[in-house]
Amino acid sequence: MTAAEIRQQFLDFFASKGHQIVPSAPIVVKNDPTLLFTNAGMNQFKDLFLGNKPAPYKRAADTQKCLRVSGKHNDLEEVGIDTYHHTMFEMLGNWSFGDYFKPEAIAWSWELLTEVYKLPKDRLYVTVFEGDTAEKLPADSEAIAEWKKHIAEDRILMGNKKDNFWEMGDTGPCGPCTEIHVDCRTDAERALQPGHELVNNDHPQVIEIWNNVFMQFNRLKDKSLEPLPARHVDTGMGFERLVRVLQGKQSNYDTDVFMPIIHATEKLCGKQYGQTEKTDIAFRVIADHIRAICFTIADGQLPANNGAGYVIRRILRRAVRYAFSFLEVKKPLLHDLVPVLAAQFSKVFPELQQQEDFVKKVVFEEENSFLRTLDSGLGRLDNITASGAKNIEGAVAFELYDTYGFPLDLTMLIASEKGLTVDEAGFETEMKKQKDRSRAATELDMGDWTVLMDQPSGIFAGYTELEMPAKVLKYRKIKAKGKEQYQLVLDKTPFYAESGGQVGDTGTLTFGTEKIPVTDTKKENDLIVHFVDKLPAAIDGGLIASVNAPKRQDTASHHTATHLLHAALRQVLGTHVAQKGSLVNADYLRFDFSHFAKVTDEELAQIEAIVNEKIRKNIPVVIRELPREEALKLGAMALFGEKYGETVRVVTIDPAYSIELCGGTHVGSTGELGLFKFTAESAVAAGVRRVEAVTGAKAEAFVTDQLQQFKSAKGLLKNPKELAKAIDQLISDKASLEKQLAALELKQVQQQAASLPQQAETVNGVHFLGAIVEAGNADMLKQFAMAVKDQLATPYLAVLCANVGGKAQVTVLVDEQLVKDKGLNAQKIIKEQVAPLIKGGGGGQPVLASAGGQDAGQLEQVIAKVKALL
Ligand code: ALA
Repeated sequence: MTAAEIRQQFLDFFASKGHQIVPSAPIVVKNDPTLLFTNAGMNQFKDLFLGNKPAPYKRAADTQKCLRVSGKHNDLEEVGIDTYHHTMFEMLGNWSFGDYFKPEAIAWSWELLTEVYKLPKDRLYVTVFEGDTAEKLPADSEAIAEWKKHIAEDRILMGNKKDNFWEMGDTGPCGPCTEIHVDCRTDAERALQPGHELVNNDHPQVIEIWNNVFMQFNRLKDKSLEPLPARHVDTGMGFERLVRVLQGKQSNYDTDVFMPIIHATEKLCGKQYGQTEKTDIAFRVIADHIRAICFTIADGQLPANNGAGYVIRRILRRAVRYAFSFLEVKKPLLHDLVPVLAAQFSKVFPELQQQEDFVKKVVFEEENSFLRTLDSGLGRLDNITASGAKNIEGAVAFELYDTYGFPLDLTMLIASEKGLTVDEAGFETEMKKQKDRSRAATELDMGDWTVLMDQPSGIFAGYTELEMPAKVLKYRKIKAKGKEQYQLVLDKTPFYAESGGQVGDTGTLTFGTEKIPVTDTKKENDLIVHFVDKLPAAIDGGLIASVNAPKRQDTASHHTATHLLHAALRQVLGTHVAQKGSLVNADYLRFDFSHFAKVTDEELAQIEAIVNEKIRKNIPVVIRELPREEALKLGAMALFGEKYGETVRVVTIDPAYSIELCGGTHVGSTGELGLFKFTAESAVAAGVRRVEAVTGAKAEAFVTDQLQQFKSAKGLLKNPKELAKAIDQLISDKASLEKQLAALELKQVQQQAASLPQQAETVNGVHFLGAIVEAGNADMLKQFAMAVKDQLATPYLAVLCANVGGKAQVTVLVDEQLVKDKGLNAQKIIKEQVAPLIKGGGGGQPVLASAGGQDAGQLEQVIAKVKALL
């Protein structure tokens, strides 16, 4: 069976058991402060487990793109070294939301593995939670009883909390789990040692493939467990491992999931997979990492210097380094793998193929820029060797790691070749410091919720209402960047929570007579969280929630304008334009999109004209709720990396012009925008451009301001017919005047200089010239010196001074002969004799040096002092 068939069979099996097949959520997580990336299939269902909102279906199944490279679940260091851990992997999962529980979950997993996939029963083992006294949790006797119906008792193994109690993160839904392991060893090996001894023992051929979690608790911040309102099933099967088992391979990489990429890499580097351990690891690292890189970029996360973007950058650099050092490819290579991957996944995750050129470009630029630092990092190491050092300090090893992207093992390898040691402990200390820093930067300190009313929450009523009575359901204290705030969740709210680029509403919550300002509104998963600086005295009474209406209106204008802009961009620049970022607030809009060149002034003008024409047509903005599939059939634009439910909100501004899936707030018809104006165009990253624009009153203010500037510039130039021409003239007049002035100055200098040498006197056999001349600046004085130099009889010493607007300028010339024979030195004279006198500083060469200083009253003394040297 091919990998594609294996995936399909999983989905078909659970569809036949009444499961809704749902799409994978994006790999990059938005709206959850506890996660950067999706690390398990259940992430997108977190709110359903916690009871924050009702489940739209009782049973679901999918294949989920997961990334385990940060936080609680992190496998990065194993990847490539072994043959069964991955950064990005697909997790096949089935879920019950308060519906079936242990008997069905266990029976179906057994049925699928042994009857559909036909895995031999004598190669399977299961583990069950043995209980934990500290947590006051009993052994999972229910799961044991269920398994006994299917599998021999000696194949049921007990497991501890680490292996058999699954938790999403430090907080969140969790519960006991039962895992299924497969023994893939040969019969001979199996005869020598029973498989149950190798389960959970890091044996590469005895591996876990499926985890069935029975969600029963919510782990709170104080580490206690709170029972969930209902019991659920959450399962996860590693797709790549399943394929490897079913295809009878020894390694995940030997399957048709990875071989296409490995073959493509072989062609690019001219080496073969399966030759040496070192090159094999490199092949595997690349085959693994390219998937993580591509799918996260396709889901909208660009490589960056912090947060999720930094994680991607590190993975990419790790892959480049392996290609550079072990496959000996010194030029960008990863980007050439993008099309192979895109074609392979065109059916399951089409978002990659749809953005193939864009992803390729981003990867190429990243590779290119890292290859430059990789080389300088190697240079840095060479310098350390050349300096004769015997040890690479921890801070330097960390700098190589952090700045040049050198993992410690590479630094150590190179160091040992050069006979150096590396301070590993020092490196770890630096590493820990950085981890602490990034933890502080990303983590919010959040208290647990204090629940006032236990009911599903977060009904957003703000599409139609801006003010309404409401109640506080729960609240908690948070600390972000050292500032204490509170978050409130209401039973219903008119406050729009930041999403889709549109900023969160601000406004007030009025509790009786006490008004509490809302500083921001955000989503946490699907909860709408209101931010306030203090709690009201009476939090459990009712309140009136009122949104700042003018601000909301201006924000809505900019949001509608964003839709008009998006459609116009695609009309003018092409349909490769895809939204890569958006900010919509009361003051302006900012829109990032994929496009490879600067948007020219002509194109901007064209786009602006289209948008303004749509505004003048006063097209109604029609908003409907539709089933997702129906909306997509209408041609509605969906964004890559967004999570859409079964029902979607569709915003249409003329069906022939703009249909977008969007949860934002909008104006009633386009005429309300009045006017649309670009204010800026720039580059954000490789292949991503940014435009900024204003509409409504903001656009009017912008135009008025621009016209004002235009008018005053025109006025200054006595109202010429064509302002640009007049300014151009002014500039060229100025340039030619400056040229003339410079020529005159030079002439003046030469004239003055001509008579100077005659003033020289002979002191101790040296022709000494000391003079105060007229020079407008330091440069002119130097020109003087050059002009005088050739006319002075040797050996000479000259000191030329000028009073430049009250400040002192001095240049000293010393004949080369004197430098050699007498040890006189212009640089030294300037530093030691001149600079202190004129209260300044300077420098230069032994034959010519200059200084500038505050005190022009000392110039006579300067001359006398230098002369005295002779
Ligand atoms: N959530 C479980 C896991 O990720 C299934 O292993």
